[in-house]
Amino acid sequence: MYLQIHQTSEEASQAVADLIIHRIRAFSPTQYRKFVLGLPTGGTPVRAYEILAERCEAGDISFEHVISINLDEYVGLPPTHEQSYVQFMEKHFDIPPSQTHILPGIPITPTPNAMAIPSSSGGQDNNSPLEAHQASCAAYEALITSLGGINLLFMGIGANGHIGFNEPGSSFASRTRVVALNEGTRDANSRFFDDKSKVPTHALSMGLGTILDAEEIVVLAMGSNKGDAIQRAVEEGINHMCPASVLQQHARVTIVADGLASSKLKEETKDYLGSSQSLYSGAGLLNDSTHHQNRIKANLANGTTLAHVSHDNDFVVVVEDRSADENAGERGKPVITLLAKGDIQYESSEDGDDPHCLPGL
Ligand code: GLP
Repeated sequence: MYLQIHQTSEEASQAVADLIIHRIRAFSPTQYRKFVLGLPTGGTPVRAYEILAERCEAGDISFEHVISINLDEYVGLPPTHEQSYVQFMEKHFDIPPSQTHILPGIPITPTPNAMAIPSSSGGQDNNSPLEAHQASCAAYEALITSLGGINLLFMGIGANGHIGFNEPGSSFASRTRVVALNEGTRDANSRFFDDKSKVPTHALSMGLGTILDAEEIVVLAMGSNKGDAIQRAVEEGINHMCPASVLQQHARVTIVADGLASSKLKEETKDYLGSSQSLYSGAGLLNDSTHHQNRIKANLANGTTLAHVSHDNDFVVVVEDRSADENAGERGKPVITLLAKGDIQYESSEDGDDPHCLPGL
C-alpha cells in the first residue's frame, strides 16, 4: 500500500488524474488491446474527472481505447433519473456511451414490479426482481472477465469505510451483487436527493472480491469526514467492519488523501507508506504495468553501510535505513527495503568486496 498525501483536495485530485493518465499512456491501448478503467461516483471524483476532461481537451490523453466500468448503481433508479449513476457519468466523465459500462439499476429486461426488492425469504421464482438483478450482476462479472479484468480501479471511500457500496460486514470474497445500503450511507447521500426518503435502500455493487481482482487500485479520500475511515483502513487490522481495510491485502494500491483525510494517521505511517511516492515519478518501474516490483528486505548488522549497489533495474529505493541509529540495539538492525524488478547485487562494508545477491521475488 502506498500513500500520497497532498495539502489540498485540488492537489489530491490532480495527483489521481495524473496517475490515471500515466497508466493509460504506459499501457498504450489500441483498438485491439483496450485499457479497462474502473470508476466511482460521489462527490470525491468530480474534480479529478474535470481535470481528466481538461487534459483530454488539451490533447494530453485520449480515451479512445479506454473502456470504463463503474463500481455501482442504485437499485430502482432508471438511467434517466438525475441521481442515477448513468446520469452522473454522462455529466462528469466524457467518454462515448459505447465505451461505458454501468450496472443497470432497473434490470435491462424489465420484469413486473422491478422496483421492489423482495425480502430474503421471498422472491425466489424465476422472474423475481431479485433474480433479475442477480442476473445483471452475474452478467457484469462475466463482462469484466471478457474485458480481461480491470487495469486500474479508481475509488472513493465512504465515511464508514465502504468501497463501492460494500458496507461494513461485506464478505471479502463477495462478487457483484445486490446490497442493502447502510443508514449512514443513505444519510450521507441524501444531500444529492430531495430528502432521505428518496434515497434508494438498495444498490448493485462490485463485490470486495471483484475489487481485489483489479490489477491496480487508487483510492481518493478528501475531507475530515474521511479521516476515521482512512485511519482504520490503513492502520488497523483487516476487518470486514471496515471494508476498505481489505485493500491492505492488495499488492498495488495507492491511497491519495488530502491533509484532512489523512489527519488521523500516525506520523510513522505517513513516513513509511509515503516514502514510496517516488515510485510514481519519472520513468520508474511502476510506470510499466507489465512489470511488477520486487520488494526485498535485508537485515544487516549494525553499522553496515552499503558500499555499492548495482542492479539492472530501473531504480532502487531505500525505504528505511536505521543503520545510523546508535541506540537501535539488536531489534534495531538496519532494515532496508529495495524495490526493483530483478536481482540486486550489493557489497557491504563488513565483508569487503564479497558481493551479495538479493534475488528478485
Ligand atoms: C458513495 C459511492 C461510493 C463513494 C462513496 C463516497 O455512496 N457508492 O463509490 O466512494 O459513497 O462518496 P463521496 O465521494 O460523495 O463522499
